[in-house]
Amino acid sequence: MNKLRKPIIAGNWKMNGTRASIKSLIEQISNDLISPLKAEVMVFPPFVYLDQVAQLVKNTELRWGAQNAAAEAQGAFTGEISALMLKDIGCQYVLVGHSERRHLFGESNETVVKKFDRAIQAGLTPILCVGETLDQRKQGKTEAVVGDQLQAVLSAKDGVNSLENVIIAYEPVWAIGTGLTATPEQAEEIHSFLREQLKNFSSTLSQKVRILYGGSVKANNASALFSMPNIDGGLIGGASLDAKEFLQIYHAVEC
Ligand code: PGA
Repeated sequence: MNKLRKPIIAGNWKMNGTRASIKSLIEQISNDLISPLKAEVMVFPPFVYLDQVAQLVKNTELRWGAQNAAAEAQGAFTGEISALMLKDIGCQYVLVGHSERRHLFGESNETVVKKFDRAIQAGLTPILCVGETLDQRKQGKTEAVVGDQLQAVLSAKDGVNSLENVIIAYEPVWAIGTGLTATPEQAEEIHSFLREQLKNFSSTLSQKVRILYGGSVKANNASALFSMPNIDGGLIGGASLDAKEFLQIYHAVEC
């Protein structure tokens, strides 16, 4: 980790939880966190529970965001939820281009760029997820794939100002939900590659943007990952549903 960038520990709950389990999870997490926090801690509940979480975290330092938002602004798009609606209910963050959206729901780079732009226009902070499949890694295409995913978003923007608060998550597809984690060195290699890509765009931006690692982050591998200079925290799936494990990951952040 780099002292200039505040780390982030983010929990992606995916399609999990009930009103009761969420209440208990938030209470356990918030009771353990002592101000000042050494990282920004945020959770990404399913849409229907966003307002419940917003109420539960009101007097805490916990932050929250949505797992997805529409590529369109409004209109006849049954089942979709717009970035502006999220902003309207007080949402601050949104995941964009998570690999499950890309691979299970066919989101192309083009769609991801549209969603990213909508999020920025609505005043949300997008967390752009990038990552390669196992086949792409085996073929030596990791940098080309994640480079394209990042470039698609960067080249669609005219100015750097709107990108300053953007967050990136490197999540190798083969490590998500599989129990296989990139080694700290494998992850660092791609994080520093992504930072170099940002540098070509703007060196200030490259120093500011937080790049999280995601893919089977657990209490027992978090501190090795977080000790890498270009890893600014984690996007945690499965382990974020267990308060104790999630808190252990938070405590793995260096002071
Ligand atoms: P995982 O998921 O921690 O369960 O591998 C990470 C993610 O999908 O963001």
